[in-house]
Amino acid sequence: MTITSAIYPGSFDPITYGHIDIVRRAKKLFPRLLIAIVANPNKSTLFTIEERMKITEAALAEVGLDGIQVISYAGLLVNCAKEHGVSAIVRGLRANSDFDYEFQMALTNRDLAPQFESVFFMTAGTYSFLSSSIVKEVCSYGGDVSAFVPESVKKALEEKLAEKRAERSSAGE
Ligand code: PNS
Repeated sequence: MTITSAIYPGSFDPITYGHIDIVRRAKKLFPRLLIAIVANPNKSTLFTIEERMKITEAALAEVGLDGIQVISYAGLLVNCAKEHGVSAIVRGLRANSDFDYEFQMALTNRDLAPQFESVFFMTAGTYSFLSSSIVKEVCSYGGDVSAFVPESVKKALEEKLAEKRAERSSAGE
């Protein structure tokens, strides 16, 4: 069987150039590629699921990546993969430190649904340190995140963080 479709799941809170690098690599192998954004991650997110979807779509358009469907899912990833008729699960690997978590997730997904192959792409060296959390932290301290995210994402981040600051100051924190 030839595998032609894949799902790239994650929190995407928000999408970074690291994610986009993985999308570009995966697109070479999988003509049908879906980005699946988890609606209820284990961690709390800065952006709502609707915002993360909108930001992801805008970022893909900004960098000229078309033909990638952005969907959301709640619950098990393998159920989402079944629903959308894909054959593979794509994840990115940045450094050794990602391995244990990714290995555990891939083996769990395989136990749950052996029909899906997990496929890993090594990120470009430039992005091997990059994460959504780092980007949020840098931006929250007023740092320039232009090297890490597309302009539309940077704008969404700055607006959201300003909103949060205003909420905190009106609450007297
Ligand atoms: O970007 P992240 O936070 O590393 O993505 C992790 C994610 C969302 C892909 C993973 O936690 C997930 O798929 N969660 C949904 C629940 C699930 O299927 N769990 C079993 C596999 S560990």
